[in-house]
Amino acid sequence: DEIHKLRLALLEWYDNNHRNLPWRTFNNGSNGDDDEEEEDEEVQRRAYGVWVSEVMLQQTRVQTVIAYYDRWMKKWPTIHHLAQASLEGAKKIVAEGGRIPKTASMLLKIPGIGEYTAGAIASIAFNEAVPVVDGNVVRVIARLRAVSANPKDSATVKRFWKVAAQLVDPLRPGDLNQSLMELGATVCMPLNPSCSSCPASEFCKALSISKEDTSVAVTDY
Ligand code: ADE
Repeated sequence: DEIHKLRLALLEWYDNNHRNLPWRTFNNGSNGDDDEEEEDEEVQRRAYGVWVSEVMLQQTRVQTVIAYYDRWMKKWPTIHHLAQASLEGAKKIVAEGGRIPKTASMLLKIPGIGEYTAGAIASIAFNEAVPVVDGNVVRVIARLRAVSANPKDSATVKRFWKVAAQLVDPLRPGDLNQSLMELGATVCMPLNPSCSSCPASEFCKALSISKEDTSVAVTDY
């Protein structure tokens, strides 16, 4: 069905077009036969990196975050280092055993982690099928469904979390979420969207409406 095709198109695009960012590449020194404990450690390191990067990405653009992220990870390479330096959320996690929680609802109990960061960590690091919605995702979904939306209006954003929850891929939730964010940042831009290179163009209601009615533009959404 349509949602299945859309997911496939987004994931295939993401596989071929995602930027290689420091928090997306984790050297896991794996030889393929890690024991479970080692694998869990690796996932925890990844979750910490996702957390740090997502908090930074909420405040500034990707290009700026890269240098900040690298410096941060040199200074506080693990959550244990960070807990010593302070930061309430890290202290709580370390005090309770040092494991970053694996679900969005448990992550939400950590001070400093809100809906967005919880969804990002749970889906990207732990493969939980939960959505992540930021301003880019609101715009992408608004255009896909041709619904006018003000990404600064919290009631609208709430509605979009529900739509994004239906869209999230059950097997690759982190990649699907990142494909939407990445698409919004690099293709489905606010003013000059590159619809001709968009993997979702055949599913995009705003685009099809704008083709039928020249008084409507994709950027109206
Ligand atoms: N913006 C914020 N987080 C992002 C991510 N994980 N991928 C792409 N863009 C993002």
